[in-house]
This record gives sequence, C-alpha cells and structure tokens, in this order.
Amino acid sequence: MTEHDYGFTTRAIQAGETTDQATRALNTPIYMTSTFAFESAADKEAAVDNALEWMPDTFFYTRTGNPTTDALEKKLASLESAETAAVGPAGMAACATALLSVLDAGDHCVASEDVFIITRFLLDDFLSKKGIEVTRVDVRDPEMVRASIRPNTKALFIESLSNPHMHVADIPALADIAHAAGLCFIVDNTFLSPAVLRPLELGADMVVHSATKYIGGHGDALGGVVSGSREVINGVRYQMDTLGAAISPFNSWLMLRGLRTLSLRMKAHSANAMAVAKFLEGRDEVESVWYPGLPSHPGHAVATSMGMTEFGGMMSIRLHGGVEAMERFAAALRLSAIAVSLGDVRTLVYPMPKRDNLIRLSIGCEDIEDLVADYDQGLVAASAPLQMALS
Ligand SMILES: Cc1ncc(COP(=O)(O)O)c(C=O)c1O
Repeated sequence: MTEHDYGFTTRAIQAGETTDQATRALNTPIYMTSTFAFESAADKEAAVDNALEWMPDTFFYTRTGNPTTDALEKKLASLESAETAAVGPAGMAACATALLSVLDAGDHCVASEDVFIITRFLLDDFLSKKGIEVTRVDVRDPEMVRASIRPNTKALFIESLSNPHMHVADIPALADIAHAAGLCFIVDNTFLSPAVLRPLELGADMVVHSATKYIGGHGDALGGVVSGSREVINGVRYQMDTLGAAISPFNSWLMLRGLRTLSLRMKAHSANAMAVAKFLEGRDEVESVWYPGLPSHPGHAVATSMGMTEFGGMMSIRLHGGVEAMERFAAALRLSAIAVSLGDVRTLVYPMPKRDNLIRLSIGCEDIEDLVADYDQGLVAASAPLQMALS
C-alpha cells in the first residue's frame, strides 16, 4: 500500500512527515536555519546542483529549499493529488509566481471578472505594466471564455469559488476550453480547500491557495502554495527563488500543524455554514444569501456536478436597509470579529460598503447554536429602527 492509497484525512495527518532521523522526534522539527554545512566542497557543489534542478529535498540554502517546508510541500501535494507543490510566503506570492511562470511580455491571459481585490491589481495593473495583456470575463459563461482567447493567450486564471460574489466555476468545462487552445489553466482554490474540491482532478494544470486561510486554519501565519505536475511547478520554483518569495520555516511548521486537522475543520466549517445559510435565508431582514450549498444558489448544480458534497465556510449576504443595517448588524455580533481574511476556526465578518453593501461571512467552527443565536440578535439589531418606526 502506498501513501496515495490512504484516505484524505489520513494523508492530512500523516503524509509528508516521517520521524526525524537525527533525533527520533515524531513531529517535523522547525529547521530554523538559513544555510546548511557540508563535509567537502564537492558535497556542497553536488547539493547546490541538485537543488537547482528543483529536487526540493536536497538543501543548501533556505530560500531554495528547507526540510520543514519540504514536509509541508509533500503533504500539500498529496492532498491536492499533485505530483509536487511549491510553498511561498503568501497567497499573493503563489498567484503571482504561478502567472509569471507561464506569461511573458507580449502574452495574453484570460481571467475571471470576480477575483480577490489584490489579484485584481496583479492582473489589471502589475501584469499590464510588464507588457502582459489581461481580459477579464464572467467565467460562469464558458463560451465567453472561449471567445476571449487570442493567438497569444497563454493562461486562464480563475477562482473556484469567487471572492466576494461566490460564483462557482465549471472547472471541467473550462479545462476543456483551455486545453483545446493550449492554455495553462490556473485555479485559485482558497475559498474551498482541497478537502472540499481538488481542481487538478477536474483538469486544472495548477492550483494556488492562500495557505493563510483554510490550509493554516488558525489565522496565525501567512503562506501560499502552487501545486501541479513537476514540469509546471519547476517553473514556479524558479520564479519563487529568483524573486525571493521564501516562507519562514516557522510558518511552514504552523501550516503543517494546521493541515493535520483540515478534514475535521472543513466538515465543521461546512456544516455550520450550511446551517447559518439556511437560517439567514429564512429571515425577512435578509435580502440575499449566496452560499453554494443552498439549492437556491445559481452555482449549486455546477458544484454538485463537480462532486462537491460539502461547500465550505464562505458565504456573502445582503441585508434590507442599506449601509446602516449592515453596520448595525456587524457591530451587534458578539462571536463574529469584524475583520478581513477568512478560513480561520474563528468566525469573521467582512462588511463591504463599497461593494453594494455585501457582507462576507467566514463561518468558523464554534457551536452552531451559539452562531445562530448571535446572527438572530444581529438581525434584530440591524432592523431595530425599522421596527421602531412600525410600532
Ligand atoms: C481568493 C484569494 N486568493 C489569494 C489571496 C491572497 O492571499 P494572501 O493574503 O495570503 O497573500 C486571498 C486573500 O484574501 C484570497 O482571498
């Protein structure tokens, strides 16, 4: 039986990690070292040559490779059904190096209209200043994607569940279009995690994550990862190394520890989010709920067609009563911290007054009765002036 025969939860706990040979430490140590020493100049030379052939488990300098980060890369590759994975210091480093590994000046990229705001800056501003054109389209319509492809198009970039509008992309359909035109298909899977969806199994060429979110899971460390075949990831490793996009071994260790409970956390996030979404959908104070697990979500059928049985912890809602109601709701919540970011075991709420008063919820792993009671009193507070006017 090989490691690949084990189930997802077993691999989340055990893959990539072995008892430390030097000390018999059961858990992977934090190799907090910038450099590695050798018996001879020839040994050093061989290690450098190997590492620069992107054999990640030969180490000479931590920017290029580190044993703690290597264990994390092996665990992530196993969970993504990837040949290999390259870990960097933040999700944005993962997005940028994935794109730069396939795009040069004069190339064109098709990308999703609804993406994380800094990814938007990367696509619309940074890449265009480097001579790379980007066309952003609504990727829920695969025909629009096909129509946007030009002779110099090299990449298709999407988010599996988009930030912040929760659009669901049909990954197999987009993979067919991308591959027919010879494009590299890159999927940012941050909002779902490999416990919920594994885009490489559905035809993607690279999967990127802000590991800051569900992969780490505890809101205490930044990180990013790109997974795929050895051939495509070697190009990403080159970008990360030359741009200096190296993660601290301490953060790699935090991610390793977080990943061991990924399956358990995602089950709790998904169950809680489904219960909160149903509760909110039934309330008069709520104008709309966008959660891919709800049958009313326009992307629900696509999500289930991709094999999704859990839908993660992310949703967006809009309340009746405009910005005032949104502000009263957020301020009244006791268990949801008002904060950017997501994927933490703790519930976060992100009101967006500049984005049509959307409220993004990152539902955590707290007791569901407590969360529902908190949203109940939050909605009462949101509609308080309306009720006073009626009484
Ligand atoms: C979908 C998505 N991709 C990438 C990122 C960037 O990740 P990081 O903050 O780790 O750089 C984020 C951050 O929120 C995100 O939501």
